[in-house]
Amino acid sequence: MNPEQLKQNVAQAALAYFNDYDMVVGIGTGSTVNQLIDLLPQVKNRIEAVVSSSEESTQRLESHGFNVKELNQTGDLSLYIDGADECDAHNRLIKGGGGALTREKIIAAASKQFICIVDASKQVDVLGKFPLPIEVLPMARSFVARQMVKLGGQPIYREGFITDNGNQIIDIHNLKILDPVELENTINQIPGVVTNGLFAQRKADVTLIAQRDGSIVKQ
Ligand code: A5P
Repeated sequence: MNPEQLKQNVAQAALAYFNDYDMVVGIGTGSTVNQLIDLLPQVKNRIEAVVSSSEESTQRLESHGFNVKELNQTGDLSLYIDGADECDAHNRLIKGGGGALTREKIIAAASKQFICIVDASKQVDVLGKFPLPIEVLPMARSFVARQMVKLGGQPIYREGFITDNGNQIIDIHNLKILDPVELENTINQIPGVVTNGLFAQRKADVTLIAQRDGSIVKQ
């Protein structure tokens, strides 16, 4: 099956989690989530409002007629669905390839249930093959990069990219992340870091994984 079909299959499987009425849900960012947004009209009668993790997803949701709200206007969300760049066997993730990591981490923290949707190419034994994105305040970029070198990484500035929050991203290559919770905390302590793309403390509750033949495995 081609990659887009796999994304569509796993997005379709996620629709089963829209299992209540008047739901206020979080929707993430990326090409897998785009497939989900395009299928979301199938469960429109279940959804009262949506909180989105990026301007891009907001536009797409609004084009399908969804009521997109700010998180400040809602209480906690019953459900959050998003993709990931990597996932391990414990539903710990690397996210932020699309640069929306900070809003994604806030929405994940504010949601009772976090369902991650990926295809099998995202599965790893040890996180870190995918460069770990860190959102930084612009003035702290080089300082944070130097601290990441001390932690054994190779930082690359994502040049020309500004996040929806007006910040910059550095992508950290060559990290072998043996203790994701510890590294997530350590990086968050560096002054100037807004968020890092490790979702280990608040990991996914369930990961739906599209296999190469299109079948879905629930982890
Ligand atoms: C967005 O910032 C990311 O966290 C995405 O969730 C991640 O990059 C997955 O995107 P794809 O579904 O396009 O692979």
